[in-house]
Amino acid sequence: MKRWWEKAVFYEVYMPSFADGNKDGIGDFKGLTEKLDYFMNLGVDCLWLTPFYSSPKVDNGYDISDYYQIDHDYGTMADFIEEAHKRKIKVIADLVLNHTSSEHAWFKEAISNPNHPKRDWYIWKDPINGEPPNNWESFFGGSAWEFDKKSGQYYYHAFAKEQVDLNWANPEVKQAMFEMMAFWLDKGIDGFRLDVINFLKVNNTFEHNPVDENNQQIHQYDKDQVGILEVMEEISSFVHQFPDKVLVGEVGSEEVDVLSAYSGKNKLDIVFNFNLGSIPAFDVDAIFEQLTKMEEIHTEDQLPTLFFSSHDMPRHISRFGEEGLEEERAKLLATLILTAKGVPFLYYGDEIGMRDLIHDDIVFMKDIQGVTAFELAIQAGKTEEEALTIANEKSRDKARSPMQWDESENSGFSTAEPWISFPTKREGINVRQQLAQSDSILSYYKKLLELRRNHPALHHGDYQLLEKNGDMIYFIKAAEGERVMVLLNFGREKVLLPPEARVEADILLSYKQEKLAATIEPGAAFILCLKGDKR
Ligand code: NOJ
Repeated sequence: MKRWWEKAVFYEVYMPSFADGNKDGIGDFKGLTEKLDYFMNLGVDCLWLTPFYSSPKVDNGYDISDYYQIDHDYGTMADFIEEAHKRKIKVIADLVLNHTSSEHAWFKEAISNPNHPKRDWYIWKDPINGEPPNNWESFFGGSAWEFDKKSGQYYYHAFAKEQVDLNWANPEVKQAMFEMMAFWLDKGIDGFRLDVINFLKVNNTFEHNPVDENNQQIHQYDKDQVGILEVMEEISSFVHQFPDKVLVGEVGSEEVDVLSAYSGKNKLDIVFNFNLGSIPAFDVDAIFEQLTKMEEIHTEDQLPTLFFSSHDMPRHISRFGEEGLEEERAKLLATLILTAKGVPFLYYGDEIGMRDLIHDDIVFMKDIQGVTAFELAIQAGKTEEEALTIANEKSRDKARSPMQWDESENSGFSTAEPWISFPTKREGINVRQQLAQSDSILSYYKKLLELRRNHPALHHGDYQLLEKNGDMIYFIKAAEGERVMVLLNFGREKVLLPPEARVEADILLSYKQEKLAATIEPGAAFILCLKGDKR
């Protein structure tokens, strides 16, 4: 029996940018609730909401100041979960267990006095020769240690200094987190996406991290430490006392054996594999290699994940699209992630082909990672123009612009000025127009999602074949007596029809070529339901 998430399509909603119900320029629950029918008609199964808890939003909610409250910008959750469930849509909440905001009451108490019982909920070290205790770097740049003048000690933050790492070696921290998770599960949340979950433990020797040949820090002692898998097991057994809840883990590692160690029975149900997701430029060989690797390493209870975009990476239509090929690439990649083996994670706006947001002035940049990159570049002597280029490169604003609902002012997102700007290219890239066009990216996604839902081979089949010929990736998946073949010619050359496709078949979907022939056209896609034996 498959569990619901094994067949599901997840859809990531970036809270401040999706739908603005109260018209203050920031997305909220009211807007989200109004869009529940949109999700239902699109055909996704589960929403992943980025953090919606109270937060000063130094990192847009990944800096939580009260885990029990909804941030004032997002209004109230009211009947949102109930309404989603009525439409058979599940909801998972992004949860940051690794760090709190420096504005959290726990940290305020901890910093108030070195003898405060909450002091040990965070990680404090004395200076060494007037310097931070080691060379650990923050993932946003600069030292991971912030000096507290009052006590003369440093505190540790793997991200911004306003995101203070909790000390998971202290059992009270774990206890507090479990209580809080139960609170949200009782409210009907269907599970969690666990932020940077492999960072919960740091090495208690606090040794210096090594650096590679390019002087880049290797995060040897600040993630994936001894004991972390036991913590995963505890979180898993706690959350799974509640029936049917899912745990999705963000494990920042390129090592597939590290990723698989976190997933499976009694651990996390789904672990993101960034190796496919973050391929930097379009590369069919790299995509195929990752699909093959995922098939090789994943055991029965370790699910592959399929995604190319998120709130932390540039949109794949911009990253992968060559001039004139954007729409084709978007459609072929959508076909891939919605039909290959694994759990797809769609990112809001990709279904209409939204483009990256590039700023022409640093004043518009919102993302702390981009802003920090700008400041560090200026400190290193770059000109403002050079620093802006570097900042745009690093900035995650690229994929965080407001959802484009229609062609009215502010793309129908809000009547107020949105909190973040729009990408330059917006024409025709909105829900209203694309719903009306049968050949739009959105209509294509809808068709794919419907096919996926109706064909067991697509939503939970195993590969019978996974091949590449030239720039064409093709595979056969089978389940419940059904065999479906998918052919995706990403290249600019025709490719011979593989022998496995030379059988009686129903065409479930075709793109850029109507009928099967001896060759598959450049940019063409087919989904076939194979009927008989080879001809
Ligand atoms: C990973 C999240 O996806 C990212 O957006 C955030 O900045 C860091 N974790 C820190 O919480």
